[in-house]
Amino acid sequence: MRSERQDLPTPDEASLNHSSTVLEELAKKINTNEGWINFADFMQFILYEPGLGYYSSGTRKLGTGGDFTTAPEISNLFGVCLADQMIKILHSYPKQMILEIGAGSGQLAFDILTRLDNQGFVPDQYYILELSADLKDRQQRLLAKLPDNLLEKVTWLDSLPENLITGVILGNEVLDAMPCRRFRIQDEDIYEIGVTYTNQRLIEQDKLADEVIKDAIQSIEKELKRKFENGFVSEIRPNYKNWFSAISASLVSGAIMFIDYGCSRGEYYSTDRSTGTLVCHYQNMAHYDPLFLPGLQDLSAWVDFSLVADVGLEHGFKVETYTSHRDFLLSAGILELVDQISDQNKRFKTNQAVKQLLLPDQMGDTFKFMLLSKDCMIKESFTEARDFRYLL
Ligand SMILES: C[S@@+](CC[C@H](N)C(=O)[O-])C[C@H]1O[C@@H](n2cnc3c(N)ncnc32)[C@H](O)[C@@H]1O
Repeated sequence: MRSERQDLPTPDEASLNHSSTVLEELAKKINTNEGWINFADFMQFILYEPGLGYYSSGTRKLGTGGDFTTAPEISNLFGVCLADQMIKILHSYPKQMILEIGAGSGQLAFDILTRLDNQGFVPDQYYILELSADLKDRQQRLLAKLPDNLLEKVTWLDSLPENLITGVILGNEVLDAMPCRRFRIQDEDIYEIGVTYTNQRLIEQDKLADEVIKDAIQSIEKELKRKFENGFVSEIRPNYKNWFSAISASLVSGAIMFIDYGCSRGEYYSTDRSTGTLVCHYQNMAHYDPLFLPGLQDLSAWVDFSLVADVGLEHGFKVETYTSHRDFLLSAGILELVDQISDQNKRFKTNQAVKQLLLPDQMGDTFKFMLLSKDCMIKESFTEARDFRYLL
């Protein structure tokens, strides 16, 4: 549901006070930076600043009563499908490990471990890397409900380990939560969109882009064989490469599964998407005002999966699969799993939930599944999902 600022629910007093504190601290940061910060720094602050940012403070965030809903919050069959695919990779390793990045409420870890156990396949380790102390606490409370044989496999990490993982690294809706920079084409020039604090308000302000942004935009234009038109606004993540280098260094051998909303570069920067992909979520309503209630709302931008593929290739990975959420889940047998539910009421409810994961106008097409492998043989039969790699 898309909303205007005035349609959004009014926060309670405690939340408004928290947002005022975030704004005060953010204003200090902006002022010490000559009155302007780029959008990635703004996003980093309002999402992740310790004790203040949206992910670092105590609001509910995901699921019922939160601001947005992710696939594991919709149906446990999402985790079941991922677990079944993971087994195909993990079985060839003497030490089988999973590293989940940004585990949210912990629901996906819960569902994956439960399924692996039911299939007689308990991994040696299930690592979780979580930046948010608040979410880590929530994950720990949920995963404490696992039987001891599974709970003892779960370890939380504070930073990415080096040369540790043999198995699978998983990130569901993590890449879209990574800070992005924003640009605008104006008068044939490239501008960077940033944030200032003027008259006690946050205001969007453009500056001529620096060389990093200019080079990145020009190389996209070269690849697309066209110039962006005046007024075109979009996002870019120049830092993604550094982040991926650390992920790559943690993986000895195995595969990375990324699931997120996104598309190929050609689609991402198409003329039809001339206002960008940035979206804000507050109390399960989507809107486009990133300056609204700092610290209380989620902010994310789509993923350029061509960038994910390019950076993967540069680090010696192979892009094994790139397909839609719907195609991936169908080929992983999600409908057969629904059919196996004997209780009629439960089957009906699960069916409704699964529709949200599959329907093209919901998560079915906007979300993609990508599998990257490193020093690891992935059989062609890994998935029979339609192959969209030609789009990358
Ligand atoms: C949109 S939530 C998705 C949560 C969960 N994966 C799910 O599907 O429900 C984004 C998650 O990524 C985490 N996150 C974002 N950037 C991260 C990073 N660089 N390293 C680790 N976790 C990160 C956030 O704290 C949060 O848990």
